[in-house]
Amino acid sequence: MSEALRVGIAGLGTVGASVARVLAEKASELTRQCGRPIAVTGVSARTRGRDRGVDLSAAQWFDDPAELAAWDGIDVFVELIGGDEGPALACVTAALEAGHHVVTANKALLARHGLALAKIAEAKGVLLNYEAAVAGGIPVIKTMREAMAGNAVTRVFGILNGTCNYILTRMEAEGISFEDCLKDAQRLGYAEADPTFDIEGHDTAHKLAILTSLAFGSRISADDIYMEGISNITQADIRAAGELGYRIKLLGVAQRTESGIEQRVHPTMVPTASVIAQVHGVTNAVAIETDILGELLLSGPGAGGNATASAVVGDVADIAKARPGFQHGPVFGRPVKELTPYKKARMRTHEGGYFIRLTVHDRTGVFAAIAKRMAENEISLESIVQHANGANTESQKTVILVTHETTEAAVRKAVDAVTKDGHLVDKPQVIRIERAA
Ligand SMILES: NC(=O)c1ccc[n+]([C@@H]2O[C@H](COP(=O)([O-])OP(=O)(O)OC[C@H]3O[C@@H](n4cnc5c(N)ncnc54)[C@H](OP(=O)(O)O)[C@@H]3O)[C@@H](O)[C@H]2O)c1
Repeated sequence: MSEALRVGIAGLGTVGASVARVLAEKASELTRQCGRPIAVTGVSARTRGRDRGVDLSAAQWFDDPAELAAWDGIDVFVELIGGDEGPALACVTAALEAGHHVVTANKALLARHGLALAKIAEAKGVLLNYEAAVAGGIPVIKTMREAMAGNAVTRVFGILNGTCNYILTRMEAEGISFEDCLKDAQRLGYAEADPTFDIEGHDTAHKLAILTSLAFGSRISADDIYMEGISNITQADIRAAGELGYRIKLLGVAQRTESGIEQRVHPTMVPTASVIAQVHGVTNAVAIETDILGELLLSGPGAGGNATASAVVGDVADIAKARPGFQHGPVFGRPVKELTPYKKARMRTHEGGYFIRLTVHDRTGVFAAIAKRMAENEISLESIVQHANGANTESQKTVILVTHETTEAAVRKAVDAVTKDGHLVDKPQVIRIERAA
């Protein structure tokens, strides 16, 4: 039997404790699969005495995770602290510099510092594995990095945040407001006390930034992501979407276009019959569209101790299986120096269909005036209806428009013109429609 792979785990919270437990409970199975045992030799967290639900007495304790990262008693450093700066950045850097392989679930860290860290990993000839950082337990990184060689990706999109999908699913199923749904999600532990990071799209954006780099061989550029969250989605939108044959999902989408690569996170209408529309609750899904394969959809648990630990343990097992002299694949699918600068496509050039919901004064001629503004901007309408379920009163009416393929610039111009005409009683709602199989 070969020598054990020695693992140091920093962070023993939801994910870290689950990883330690899975490594202990599945020790013999993992040994058989990897051809050698995996031993946790060192651990670090903030609070030393805390019960983690797993016996860690055989592992050496480190108050400072950076010290564990550089310790010569490990071969692999597993970072499960979180955060894009501070201890996580310091200890992952220290581990790579020390020539240790690294496994992390930290999307924020990779979205910000992924390239710099990948550079160190390449220079040191070690692996930086991060399957759990995108869509939790779904093996999307491995699929894109290893199983799709030769495929040219044209678009990758997904439901990458369980909290948002849970809220949208319940809003639709139970007819309750965004605010009530969010409160319930917080009570049940599906949403953080400060939910901004999830519901305004930041979490989805971090994961998307990583997927974009893998898909298009471009440098990670998390600051170039167009972002809208779900807090403005109302029951009126959800009902109107349903009647038109759509469902609203918060999607992260990266797409190659003539003017560059689009990276966008926003509420999106997808056809109710599409596969991604059937992904409910906290479940995540990633669709990858390529020239050879067509569209592939992976779905499964995107968070939670066990699901995330499954991905982390898979990454550790890959390292245990690798033999000396084995050539590691590049961190983001190609060597850092071959990643191209990210060429941003401006959101105004985005092309697609649009759903527009307008609450208007109930006056003669408003309908015709709206249609005229659309025509002036060369927007062809699939439908324009006065909507029965909107905020209709004696003095105001809801008008719903669905456009054929047009540009974001045209839609913004037309909606601005309608607003300036003084027909609106409320802020206009614009939701992009996404093609999905
Ligand atoms: N939770 C999920 O479902 C999930 C899914 C996918 C990815 N992730 C990612 O996995 C990572 C961990 O998430 P989590 O949910 O497990 O977080 P968590 O439950 O908050 O655990 C964080 C752990 O880090 C430790 N820690 C914090 N500061 C430290 C420091 N300065 N030195 C040493 N240890 C420190 C904490 O110690 P104490 O326990 O002593 O306080 C705790 O054990 C994050 O990057 C997250 O984005 C999580």
